[in-house]
Amino acid sequence: MKTFLSLKNSHSKQLPAQFAKQDVRYSEALVEHFLEQFTKKGDIILDPFMGFGTTLLVAEQMERTCYGIEFDQERQEYVCSILQHPDRALHGDSMAMSSLPIPDIDFSITSPPYMGQTHTENPFTSYKTVGGGYSQYLKDLTHIYEQVADKLKPNGRAILEVSNLKHEDGSVTTLAWDVARAVSEVLHFEGEIVMSWPDDCGYGYDHSYCLVFSQKSK
Ligand SMILES: C[S@@+](CC[C@H](N)C(=O)[O-])C[C@H]1O[C@@H](n2cnc3c(N)ncnc32)[C@H](O)[C@@H]1O
Repeated sequence: MKTFLSLKNSHSKQLPAQFAKQDVRYSEALVEHFLEQFTKKGDIILDPFMGFGTTLLVAEQMERTCYGIEFDQERQEYVCSILQHPDRALHGDSMAMSSLPIPDIDFSITSPPYMGQTHTENPFTSYKTVGGGYSQYLKDLTHIYEQVADKLKPNGRAILEVSNLKHEDGSVTTLAWDVARAVSEVLHFEGEIVMSWPDDCGYGYDHSYCLVFSQKSK
């Protein structure tokens, strides 16, 4: 498997004007690459942080069955409006994933909401409430991935695209390392694939990491 990739960061759809300042989408080419590598037609996929639906859109084009969960209702309604199977784009909270109508999955891919070490808003309410700090964020992410692990079939993989965060005061939140460690509590960390991007991806770096996980051996 190649561990360094250079891909385009582009999208086939323009977001509606109301979302113009919220474009947090990840690359369609990234999703296409990993679906090609780890899945086949008909496989069941989950994106627990659906956002504007990049994973579901690409998966539909590649004839995979993809479910997504999105906390923000306006985003979820937008995703429903662009899909052939809007019933798979769920409005809900991934913290309560086990109560949502999602079957067992072959694969999961996502870009989670980010948090800096000193930030106070809770990323898992789309930053709409005050959270319990960075260590609570990592615990919550582990709890979400415990539920992904429950749904993941024995040979399945789960991928998270994450970057470290460079702050204006010169400090760095080692988010990618910390997410790898947190999710490793519930899934086996296979390793990272370094993604090189043409421009700064918004966090002070022009690269990010795709962290690849599989089921722990029992
Ligand atoms: C980085 S964005 C994902 C973007 C997506 N990959 C795309 O290309 O559009 C993370 C998303 O997770 C959503 N989110 C945050 N907390 C959530 C939760 N508890 N359950 C479900 N979605 C959540 C946010 O509202 C945001 O849209």
